[in-house]
Amino acid sequence: MSLISFGSRVFRSYYLHVLGRRGCSTAAFMPESAGFDGVSSRSALHEFSVSNSETFWAALARHRLSWMSPFHTVHDCDLSRGRIRWFEGGKLNVSVNCLDRHVQTCPEKVALIWEKDEPGSEVKVTYRQLLEMTCRLGNLLRRRGVKKGDCVTIYMPPCPLAVASMLACARIGAAHNVVFAGFSADSLSERIRDAQSSIVITVNQGVRGGKLTQLKKTVDTAVQSCPNVRHVFVSMRTENPVAMTERDVDMEEEMLKEDAVCEPAAMDSEDVLFMLYTSGSTGKPKGLVHTQAGYLLYAAVTHRYVFGYSDGDVFGCVADIGWITGHSYAVYGPLANGGTTVLFESTPIYPDPGRYWEMVQRLKINQFYGAPTAIRLLLKYGDQWVQKYDRSSLKTLGTVGEPINTEAWQWYYSVVGGERCPVVDTWWQTETGGICIAPRPSEPDAEIIPGMAMRPFFGIKPVLMDSKGKVLTSNDANGALCIAQPWPGMARTIHNDHERFKDTYCQQYPGYFSTGDGAHRSKDGYYQITGRLDDVINVSGHRIGTAEIEDVVNQCPEVAESAVVGYSHDIKGEGVYAFAVLKKSVEAEEGVLSKQLKDLVSQKIAKYASPDCIQFVERLPKTRSGKIMRRVLRKIVEGDTSGLGDLSTVDDPAVIQEIIQSHDKHFRKQ
Ligand code: WTA
Repeated sequence: MSLISFGSRVFRSYYLHVLGRRGCSTAAFMPESAGFDGVSSRSALHEFSVSNSETFWAALARHRLSWMSPFHTVHDCDLSRGRIRWFEGGKLNVSVNCLDRHVQTCPEKVALIWEKDEPGSEVKVTYRQLLEMTCRLGNLLRRRGVKKGDCVTIYMPPCPLAVASMLACARIGAAHNVVFAGFSADSLSERIRDAQSSIVITVNQGVRGGKLTQLKKTVDTAVQSCPNVRHVFVSMRTENPVAMTERDVDMEEEMLKEDAVCEPAAMDSEDVLFMLYTSGSTGKPKGLVHTQAGYLLYAAVTHRYVFGYSDGDVFGCVADIGWITGHSYAVYGPLANGGTTVLFESTPIYPDPGRYWEMVQRLKINQFYGAPTAIRLLLKYGDQWVQKYDRSSLKTLGTVGEPINTEAWQWYYSVVGGERCPVVDTWWQTETGGICIAPRPSEPDAEIIPGMAMRPFFGIKPVLMDSKGKVLTSNDANGALCIAQPWPGMARTIHNDHERFKDTYCQQYPGYFSTGDGAHRSKDGYYQITGRLDDVINVSGHRIGTAEIEDVVNQCPEVAESAVVGYSHDIKGEGVYAFAVLKKSVEAEEGVLSKQLKDLVSQKIAKYASPDCIQFVERLPKTRSGKIMRRVLRKIVEGDTSGLGDLSTVDDPAVIQEIIQSHDKHFRKQ
C-alpha cells in the first residue's frame, strides 16, 4: 500500500475521532498499534513506544518507509560510547521516499509552494516536477565528479532549487551541508573546509524583505580560502548578471542538458544524509551528522503526529532551510509524508506585518509553524494585521526555537488561532533531528498549558538530572534535561570529531543523552524548558556560542580581552551583551569602536550574532584560576545584583563593583 493512500485513511478516521466520536480505537490513530499488545489509548501507546522501543520503531519503519532491502537489526546503540545505529542491514534512498513513491500515485500533487519574497507571486511545484529537477541535478552533480560519500555545500535561500539540491545529493548518495544564507563569507568558508566540499551550490543574488543580497559574491570570497572547491553551481534568482569564472557552472542551463531520469543510489541506513553546523560552547561550530533512515522516519512521524498533518493539508513552516527546522519540517518530514509544504523566502513584516496571515489566506495553510520571536514582534503591531485576513484554514499552530512567553502564546492562540487551534510549543534541537517534546500528540481534548512543551513524543524518555548527576524522580523538579534512551532521529556524531560528540552529549551523564538545556517538570509531570545551561545564547531562535563572538571581538587590535553574555530581550528572546577590555595604550572613542566591533561580528559571523550592547571595562571578573565569571556578568546585565551567587572563588571582588557601577552609568546613557 502506498503511503499516501495509507495516510489519508489514517487521518480520515483521526478527524472523525476529533470531531466527537470518542472511544475510537487507537489503531485508527496509528494503524501499527493494532499489532502492539495491550495498547488501547494514546498514553498507553506512548508507554509502549518507550518500553518496547524496538517493536514500536520497527513497525513504523517497515510501514512508513520504502526499502530497497529490509533491515535486519532495529537498533544497536550504546549511548555511553556514543554509538547509535538504527535499521542496519536496510537499504533505501531518501529521495525515492520523498518523491518517486508519490509520483507513482499522484504526480500532479503540489509538493512545494514557493512563497517568494515578492508577495502574491508564489510558485507551485508538483511532485513530478520536483522529481525531474532533482534527477537532472543529480546527474549534473555526478557529471561534475560528485561521488557517493562526498559532501556538497548549499548556500541558498529557501527555493525549489535548494530543495532539489538537497534531494539530488540524497539521490546520488552525497551528503549535503546547507549553510544559512545569512552567514558571512568567513563562516561559510570555515564550513566548506570542515565539510571538505568540492562543490558549492548558490544563487546569483538573494531577495529578502525587498532587498538584494550578493550571495554569489559571498561565495566567491569564501572559496578563495577553500582550495578543494572545484565548482560553484549558480542558479539565477534574479535577472541581474553576476561575474562567472571557469570554476562556475550556470546551473539551470546545465540541468537542461541532463537526463530527467537519475538512478537512485542504494544507501545503507547509517550512511550520512547531511551535516548541519551549529554553535556549541567553544569557538568552533560543530557539524552534526544525521543519517538516512532513522532521521527520515523520525521527521515524517513527528510531522504527522505533532501537527495532526493529514493528506491534502498545506503545511507552512516559515523557518529557513539553513536551520534544522527547515530541514525536518519544510523539506524532509512533509515530503516523506507526500504533503504540500511552503518554502518561505520573506520576512514576517514585508511588505507589512500582515504578511504571514495574508499568506495563510492565499495559500490556505492548515498548519502554521513559526518562531516565538516573530510572534512577539507581530504582537506589537496590533491585532488588525491578523484580523484583516481569513485564517479559517488553520488547524494547528506551532512554535519552535526558544521558550514562548505566556503573552505571546495567548496572542497566538486567541488572535491568530481564534481560540480554535491547538498551539504546539515544540522543543527539540539540531541534535535531536525532530521534535522530542510537544503538547501533541495526546488525547484530542487533552489540556495544553501556555508556554509549555509538555509531553514527550513517542519513543522519547526525558529525565532531569540534579547537580550531582542523579536522576530526579519526583515531579515539581528542576534539572538538566537528558534523554534516557536513543531514538531514530538523533544525530550520530560530529563530523570529524566523534570525541567532541561523546564529550558533549554522552559523557556528562553517562548512558544518557545530555541536551544542554534546563527544564522544569511540573507537579502534573509536564515539561517546561527553561533555557540553555551552557555558554550558548539563543538570539531570535538562533544559537550562537559566546566563545564564537568573543573570538571575533578579540581579533580587533584595540581589544585585550572580552566576555559575551546573553540577556533577556523583548523581541529576540535573548540579546547579545559584550564586555570588552581595551589594551592600555588605546585611546579610541568608545562610540566609534563599539560600532566597529558590531560590524566586525556581522561581517565575520552573521548579523544576528552582532552585540546589542558593548560595555568597555577595565577588567573582567575572574576566578583565582583565571576563568571569566560569565555567570556574574549575566546577573549584572539582568540587573540582579543582589543575587550574584557564590563569589567565594572570585579573584578580586572590587572588579565586580566597578562593573556594576559602570553598567548603571552605561544603561542610563542608552
Ligand atoms: C532552544 C531548533 C524552549 C533550546 C529546533 C534548544 C527551545 C535550542 C525550544 C536548539 C522550545 C528549541 N522551548 N527552548 N520549544 N525549541 N529551543 O539546534 O535551547 O537551532 O537547545 O534547534 O533551542 O536550537 P536548534
